[in-house]
Amino acid sequence: MASELVCFEPRCRERFAITEAIYNCRKCGGLLEAAYTNAIDPVALKRIWRERRMSNAAIDQSGVWRYRELIPFLDSEARIVTLREGNTPLLPAPKAAGYGGLERLVFKHQGFNPTGSFKDNGMTCGVAQALRLGMKRVACVSTGNTSASMAAYSSAAGLDPIIFIPNGNISYGKLAQALEYGARTLQVEANFDQILALVRVLADRLGIYLLNSINPFRIEGQKTIVIEMMDQRDWNPPDWIVLPGGNLGNTAAFGKALRELREHGFIDRIPRLAVIQAAGSAPFYDLVRRPDGSALVPVGHPETLATAIKIGDPVSWPKALHEVTSSGGVVEKVTEQEIADAKAVIGLCGIGCEPASAATLAGIRKLTAAGVIDRGADVVAVLTGNVLKDPDYIYRYHTGQLEMPDGAAIRATFGNAPTVVPNDAEKIAALLG
Ligand code: F0G
Repeated sequence: MASELVCFEPRCRERFAITEAIYNCRKCGGLLEAAYTNAIDPVALKRIWRERRMSNAAIDQSGVWRYRELIPFLDSEARIVTLREGNTPLLPAPKAAGYGGLERLVFKHQGFNPTGSFKDNGMTCGVAQALRLGMKRVACVSTGNTSASMAAYSSAAGLDPIIFIPNGNISYGKLAQALEYGARTLQVEANFDQILALVRVLADRLGIYLLNSINPFRIEGQKTIVIEMMDQRDWNPPDWIVLPGGNLGNTAAFGKALRELREHGFIDRIPRLAVIQAAGSAPFYDLVRRPDGSALVPVGHPETLATAIKIGDPVSWPKALHEVTSSGGVVEKVTEQEIADAKAVIGLCGIGCEPASAATLAGIRKLTAAGVIDRGADVVAVLTGNVLKDPDYIYRYHTGQLEMPDGAAIRATFGNAPTVVPNDAEKIAALLG
């Protein structure tokens, strides 16, 4: 068989047909990943993938399906629904580099995606698999971006999207997207981790296909973030790839992509992964620091204004732990103040991002100060979401009104409050000098 689902647990490695609608190993409960046996010729593919950038075919224009030889789980390309996801830029940011203690820094900005986050890379794959399995209804629990993306892709594909979100805990930009893209939206009185457990039960009972990042096909799509990054860098790996960690699907996807790229001979070494968590939602940070480091201890009441990564019990931690460890990577955590200030600095570069994404720069600043990342290192940080996802946070920060639920205030270190002026040319001219 050319493609299969394989249990990720080293002691199990049970195999399942690629067409099974399952999310965990039936034998041991472990996470699943897609595995392939197709022949790969890196020299030919590097050329073919470049040529596809000139093509007008939809699947060639997709920054995910352009790399379809490395995600060959489908039996037919007819299943593919693309909104031209991926194709996100590498943006040099000298000001952010200086703030982060680096000589240079490049952002790969996944906020340029059709629904404004990296979730689109994975969702086009998850939805293609849902169609292939003949599913009608799809569901996810989300801190906002997965739901926005799932709503868009499943509506575009003619599927019926059902979204479960923690009531009052996602940004309006994201909630608005889910409503606009036509998803049935359920706001549950519980946190992300509790709702995920609930949705898993409901998905089984009601025959609904689950499109959270526990779905292995989402992970396949998110691999292309790294594949495209290497393509854009002419296959020269950076020293570090820095990304925020929430449910840890992206960490799993990046690690798998890098392993496969090296196995097939596209790159000759694997960059180190640096995963950054918000201090109030940092179970993965705690895990790698515990001496016995064997199992993740969930954070019961995760807290952070970066609501995208407000997750206490990340599903993909076993995969993420493997990928971080085998890349010689690190896990860091940053405070709310550090995230807010780093975000403002990314804004001052003319780039901008949502709060969770800014954890990357805050983490870099900390890791260079500690001597973990060298000043001269070649670093790519992944900005996971668009600046417009959470305008409320931005307005509050710049006007000195951003605070934690317990009332602790965030300083507007780089605050830029608007000024109200009279409709009077003289007075405005005086003000502007
Ligand atoms: N950054 C953003 C903007 C996100 O939306 C998420 C996750 C992450 C980082 C963390 O990525 O979970 O792969 O470690 N958002 C999910 C959601 C959980 O429901 O939209 P991760």
